Amino acid sequence: MTYKVKKTYELLVIMKGKHCTSMSARRRNNSAVKKGIVLTIGLALFISSCSTSTDLTYTRDIAPIIHENCTPCHRGGGAAPFSLTSFRNVNRKKNTILDVTQSGLMPPWPADRNYTHFIGERYLSTEDKQKIKEWIKGGAPEGDPAHMPKLPAYSEQSYIGTPDTTVWFDSILIQGNSRDKFFIATAPIELATKKYVLAMEFLPNENNLVHHMNGRLLNYETHKKASITDGTRILNMEVDKAEYIKQFEALKLANDDGSRPQQINSAVNYLPGAQAQIYPEGIGGFTMNQKSILIADDIHFGPIPQDKWDRSRVNIFYSKTPPARPINEVMLGTNGASKIIPPLVIPPNEITKHTSFLQIPEDISVLTINPHMHLLGKSFKAYALSPKLDTIRLISIPKWDFRWQYFYTYPTMLKIPAGSVIYVEAEFDNTAKNPNNPYSPPQEIKERYEFGGAGMRTTDEMLQFIITWLPYQNGDEQVSLVVK
Ligand code: HEC
Repeated sequence: MTYKVKKTYELLVIMKGKHCTSMSARRRNNSAVKKGIVLTIGLALFISSCSTSTDLTYTRDIAPIIHENCTPCHRGGGAAPFSLTSFRNVNRKKNTILDVTQSGLMPPWPADRNYTHFIGERYLSTEDKQKIKEWIKGGAPEGDPAHMPKLPAYSEQSYIGTPDTTVWFDSILIQGNSRDKFFIATAPIELATKKYVLAMEFLPNENNLVHHMNGRLLNYETHKKASITDGTRILNMEVDKAEYIKQFEALKLANDDGSRPQQINSAVNYLPGAQAQIYPEGIGGFTMNQKSILIADDIHFGPIPQDKWDRSRVNIFYSKTPPARPINEVMLGTNGASKIIPPLVIPPNEITKHTSFLQIPEDISVLTINPHMHLLGKSFKAYALSPKLDTIRLISIPKWDFRWQYFYTYPTMLKIPAGSVIYVEAEFDNTAKNPNNPYSPPQEIKERYEFGGAGMRTTDEMLQFIITWLPYQNGDEQVSLVVK
């Protein structure tokens, strides 16, 4: 019997022609089968394998692709709104999966991989795309459940290690009126002594609702601020100017004398599916004073039909030693070190082009970049021209998608020599053809100058390019930024 079963399995393997059109070959194989029971099983398998027209099965061929490329977000508690952790989930969504995988919409990676490479690129190989297509078009057979690979283990606590401490923001009520929501949340932090931070990691509890968050750390000198806990902790950004200013003042972020404290930009950032930024030992990190306030600047929640509470937290990873090479940040465009030309005013029914450029006075090593636009963004490109007029490619996003505002880190540090000019070229689409246009009919949209461009409703526009860099040191080009 064991022998016969084995034979049947072999038969099945032989029978596995590409399509049902290879019937004659199957018949030939079939005719070689003599014994009744084997024939019956063989026939049953033959019939079932012919109701689908592919050899590919979910459990053996497709699940490994889904587990590697999709379930990091598409799982319970993941960043995506539904799970793809089982055959049933995937089977139910197969038509949309076919669309989004073939169009390249999923997995989300808007940067052009033919232009530059970054760490953690999400993409399907041509072969995997083809397999998914063939499997779905062939009837999406499940296959032998015994072949189903185990789902990778996903941590709910942290994706990058064991944090030294966790700081909580106040709970935020996200109203269920099906509109985007924007908040500023603050979390005061008091320490016995100042500490060195290696990395911070933001984790929302409604993680498929948070679209992005930019975290800054305000470092106070102890004698300049009596109390860091006096201010309010939440600001709702969807208010008029007067109310915004009132709420902003109530956060009490300034020093007691009204001056601004030291600010660490991009202390922590968040985007669905993007891992917290952590660099190899000795690179990056910053000092956190005894008194500091962490600001989640512009937490963006997507629209929901029913009220929900979000309670987000930040994991902090300390380092014993001061940062050997602390990072610097420079920003082009809105609120940044270079103007936008022409100014960012986008008339209705127009597609406009804008640039911004900045000369770099010293040799720098670029670690991470972040292009930022809102709903009207259409394309984005950044590069540097060296004094010898070599082009140093930074990033190209041919089809902007405001949902995926990644911080892109290069595999090795990227040198930009002194005297180079960094150029940003961006297009905005304020026509009715832009499905993300917040207004119908289109209206003039611009930077919100009254807050220095900082009042970042998605219905205002922005054009920013943030560059995280270090002063160049010999050999930086060979320094890998992959954390092992
Ligand atoms: C980085 C996280 C992430 C990864 C990785 C990812 N997705 Fe998604 N996916 C999302 C999010 C978030 C949405 C919802 C988008 C929105 O809100 O508009 C989504 C939406 C979808 C949709 C619905 C699209 C629609 O138009 O309704 C499908 C289908 C999908 N993903 C399939 C996949 C497949 C298949 C993979 C792997 C090949 C994948 N996704 C990888 C985050 C991800």
